[in-house]
Amino acid sequence: MDQNNFDNDDIKLGSKHIWLPYTQMLNHLPQLEVLKTKGSKIYLENGKILIDGISSWWAVSHGYNHPHIIKKLVAQAKKLPHIMLAGFANQATYKLAHRLAKFCEMDKVFFSDSGSTAIEVAMKMAWQYHFNCGNFNKKTFVSFKNSYHGDTTGAMSLADLQNGMHQKFADLLLKNYCLDLPKNLEDFDFFENFLKEKNSEIAGIFIEPMVQCAGGMVFHSSQILEKIFEISKKYNILTIVDECATGFYRTGKKFAFKHTKYHPDILTVGKALTGGVVGLSATLTSNKIFEKFLDDSLNKALMHGPTFMGNALACACANASLDLFENENYQEKVLKIEKILQKNLKKFEKFERVKEVRVIGAVGVIEIETNWEEIKILRQKFIAKGVFLRPFGNVIYVMPPLNISSKDLTTIFKAIHEVL
Ligand SMILES: Cc1ncc(COP(=O)(O)O)c(C=O)c1O
Repeated sequence: MDQNNFDNDDIKLGSKHIWLPYTQMLNHLPQLEVLKTKGSKIYLENGKILIDGISSWWAVSHGYNHPHIIKKLVAQAKKLPHIMLAGFANQATYKLAHRLAKFCEMDKVFFSDSGSTAIEVAMKMAWQYHFNCGNFNKKTFVSFKNSYHGDTTGAMSLADLQNGMHQKFADLLLKNYCLDLPKNLEDFDFFENFLKEKNSEIAGIFIEPMVQCAGGMVFHSSQILEKIFEISKKYNILTIVDECATGFYRTGKKFAFKHTKYHPDILTVGKALTGGVVGLSATLTSNKIFEKFLDDSLNKALMHGPTFMGNALACACANASLDLFENENYQEKVLKIEKILQKNLKKFEKFERVKEVRVIGAVGVIEIETNWEEIKILRQKFIAKGVFLRPFGNVIYVMPPLNISSKDLTTIFKAIHEVL
């Protein structure tokens, strides 16, 4: 069962006990024994250095061990690593609430600890908003084919259960509607009629704006996103935008919803919120929604509160990450990456097995004809070439740290070229 020959004794001992994510534990690929990280690089125990082309699952937006974030993290650890949020106000968490609300142009911030829990909070928030308004039947949600919103049960109930990895859990889950993402006038007619007919039972519509990431790095246009907003608003259906993956400049704008003129009712963020250093997420909303939770009785309050909600260490990292986002021109950095990706990935269009190349912001995708056995081989080949890419489904994709050097990007392109 243990596929590795680890050097480090602790890793050797732990390998007998650890259960890995999305992994068939009987015959998985060897785990890479990592010694340290810095910038875009992962240093392995065996002396090999990998360039991380996917930012540790799209989170490490300023590169690993960014000195400004680490400095603030250490200072916070010495002063106040954690205190529960119920009953105690600490500077790091409150400062972040203020700054994040401003950065996201929302009014209220509910913290939690992962993207999935931010989605659970968004579901409860939307559902209870309607309930508090007296709309007791608005209990279901709409999401789209290829969606992925996390691994908790609520979040899984919003996933594409036909094509996604959560299919087997269907009987465990809430029954929501997963629709085709409308693309043309006919689709939009269907979509609008659906919402018109069912709006008395639909509380909200969840969307990963511009890019459906874990569902296959599938893009849609800003016009489509805008029209979805427009129709949902028409039928009193809350728009819930999941920017756990697309937020913080990943698609070239501060948030992907900024490619439209609309503002969501509820926004979820995670991953890059702390610069990918510590788990933290947030569900943000407007005063209009928040006010419906105000009442003399606890009955109308939002009954949710994870133990580590608003953890001070995580919030210190997020404050430091916001310092970087606010003080450096990330839009420019990403536009630069976008141009480099467009120029270099386009070259792969002529390869026999390549079906499509697409780029938005710092997301570059090469869609290929492949299968799972081949994907496993591809993953190993990239590692042998000194880059960490993790193809899945039918895509090889690049989502590097937003401050990656062009030299490191070139190494990634060279590896893709050789492997393809
Ligand atoms: C769009 C989106 N939402 C939610 C999540 C879940 O986040 P987490 O893994 O932090 O629970 C992910 C994770 O990849 C995601 O891509």
